[in-house]
Order: sequence, then C-alpha cells, then structure tokens
Amino acid sequence: MTPYEVIDPTDLYDMIDYFYERVAEDTRINHLFPGDFAETSRKQKQFLTQFLGGPSLYTEEHGHPMLRQRHLPFTITQYERDAWLENMHIALTSSRLDKDVQEYLYERLKLTANHMVNA
Ligand code: HEM
Repeated sequence: MTPYEVIDPTDLYDMIDYFYERVAEDTRINHLFPGDFAETSRKQKQFLTQFLGGPSLYTEEHGHPMLRQRHLPFTITQYERDAWLENMHIALTSSRLDKDVQEYLYERLKLTANHMVNA
C-alpha cells in the first residue's frame, strides 16, 4: 500500500491550493514566486501525487524532478525554508487528509525542504 492509495486526491489538491493561498500572502517568501500560483499549484499537485506513490504525473510532463537544481535560481536560506514549512504544516493540519498521512508527508517534506536550502 502507498499513502496515495489511502487518500482522496481531492483532499490532497485542496490542501495544496490552500498552501499556495497562504504562500501568496506570506511576505517572507511570496516575492520568490513568478506570480501565477495556479500554475505553481498545478505542478505541486503533480509532484506530490508521485511523491506519495501515485502516478508519475510530474515526471511525465516535466521530466525528472531534480528539485534542488530547479530551486537554485531562488535564494533559499533557513528563513525561507522555515516559512515554507510553517505554511505547509498549517495547510496539512487544517486539511481533511488522514492524520497519519499528514504526519508522514510533513516528516518527508521537512527532509526535502532541508535539501532545498542553497544559501
Ligand atoms: C524550502 C523552501 C522552498 C521555497 C522557498 C520554494 C520555492 C519555490 C519557487 C519560487 C518555485 C518556482 C515556482 C514556479 O516556477 O511556478 C518552486 C517550484 C517548485 N517547488 Fe519549491 N520551494 C521550497 C521547497 C519545496 C519543497 C520542500 C518541495 C517539495 C515538495 C518543493 C517543490 C516544488 C516543485 C515541484 C516546484 C515546481 C518545479 C517546476 O517544475 O518548475 N519546493 N519552489
């Protein structure tokens, strides 16, 4: 069983939309983004679907994620990482996703977010 098999994809998608609504309002990090949060959110839905063991939607459209490399154009210190994770934690805990899935995803995203720190 993968986490993706036990979730309702709509709950994941709604969580990601709420996350980017928060990021769009967060002056610690919103200046980094190109401004089309609908498109950023769409890519994140594809990525997190495969991250949780679902179909490889991100890779099919964009190729290998190479997330660290894709984030190099943006200055990401511990400050930006913490802002990103704080918004993700609030989005997850206010979502309809199962509590175990929330915790599993947050723990894995903490590792990924650490890996994105490049300054
Ligand atoms: C640590 C703090 C982080 C910051 C400040 C940050 C910031 C950004 C920015 C500015 C973009 C470009 C948005 C766009 O082109 O639409 C982006 C893209 C993306 N980020 Fe992050 N990010 C962070 C962490 C993460 C983490 C932990 C993940 C893992 C889920 C992630 C996944 C993605 C994905 C999948 C994209 C789209 C890449 C693409 O195809 O262009 N990011 N991020």
